[in-house]
Amino acid sequence: MADKPCPPRSRIGVANFTLDRAVVVIDGMTPSPHDRSAWLQGPASPCDSVPRVNQPRRLVLLGAPGVGKGTQADLLHRVLGACHLSTGDVFRAAGSLSECEQSPAMKQALGYMRRGELVPDAIVCEMVRERSECLHCRGCFILDGFPRTLGQAESLKELLDGEGVMLTAAVNYDLATSEIVARLAGRRTCEKCRTVYHVTERAPKVADRCDRCDGKLFQREDDRPESIRVRLEAYDRSTAPLIKFYRDLGLLVHITATGSADEICARTISALAVRAIRSA
Ligand code: AP5
Repeated sequence: MADKPCPPRSRIGVANFTLDRAVVVIDGMTPSPHDRSAWLQGPASPCDSVPRVNQPRRLVLLGAPGVGKGTQADLLHRVLGACHLSTGDVFRAAGSLSECEQSPAMKQALGYMRRGELVPDAIVCEMVRERSECLHCRGCFILDGFPRTLGQAESLKELLDGEGVMLTAAVNYDLATSEIVARLAGRRTCEKCRTVYHVTERAPKVADRCDRCDGKLFQREDDRPESIRVRLEAYDRSTAPLIKFYRDLGLLVHITATGSADEICARTISALAVRAIRSA
C-alpha cells in the first residue's frame, strides 16, 4: 500500500527549524517564568515574558556530555534569571513532532543526534542565527550545548561582535569519565517539561513521574552505551579545544563538577562573582 501523503504543514515560523506553538502546547509544556518559546519553537513565537534578571550574565557552558550542564543551566537560571538556551532541547522538541512535521534538515539533524554524532555546523549555526533575538534579550542567556566546535565558537563570536553583545564568561565543568558515564546511564527526562532527573542521585519523588508536572520520565535514545561512547569521542575531538579558545579570549572559568548539583551551582556563582569583582 502506498504511503499516505503528509497533510499540508500549517506552521507559523520561518526557515527549517521553527516549531508550531500549538504543537508545543499540546506537548504539555508547562507555563513557567522561564519562557523559552522563541528559542524552542523558533523566532516567530515570541516569549510571553522576559525573565527578571538578578545579575545580567551571558554565559556559555562547556563540558563533556553528562557532566551536568543542563542541570546547572536550570539552577543558574533560577538564581540569575537568565534564559536557559540549549541546542539539544531544540532538537529534542523537534524530535517529538510527527515525521510529516519535521523539515528535511531537521530529520537529518535528528539522525546525527540518535547516533550520538554532532550535527553539522552549518545546520546548528543557522538554527542559532534564526534565534539571535534570544541573544539580545535583556533577560540575558545561558547557552548550553552551543558552541561545540571551533567553527561554531567562531560563528557565535562573529554574531555577538556584530551585534555588540559581550559574553560574561565561558564556564567549563570538569569531571572524571567514569562519573560522567554513571550520570548519563541513570538520567531520566520528563517528556513534558524536560526536567532532568537521575535514578539515584536526583530521583523524582514518585518513580518515573516528574515532580514539577507529573509528566512521564523517559530515557534518552542517545544515552545507550554505544551512543555515549560516540558522544564522548566527539567531545574530545571537537569540543575540548574550545577550552583553549575561551581561555585565550580571557573568558574561561573552570569549575570542578564533583559533589551535589547545588554545591556545583554555588561554586559557579561564587567563581562568577570573583571574576566580576576582578574585572570591575
Ligand atoms: P545535548 O542535549 O546538548 O547533550 P550533551 O551535551 O550531550 O549533554 P547532555 O544533555 O547529555 O548532558 P549535560 O551535561 O547537560 O548533563 P545533565 O545536566 O543532563 O546534545 C544532544 C545531541 O544534540 C548531541 O549529541 C548532538 O547530536 C546534538 N547537538 C546539540 N547541540 C549541538 C551543537 N551545538 N552542535 C552539534 N550537535 C549538537 O546531567 C546528566 C545526568 O547527571 C542527569 O541524570 C542529572 O540528573 C545527573 N546529574 C547532574 N548533576 C549531578 C550531580 N552533581 N551529581 C549527580 N548527578 C548529577
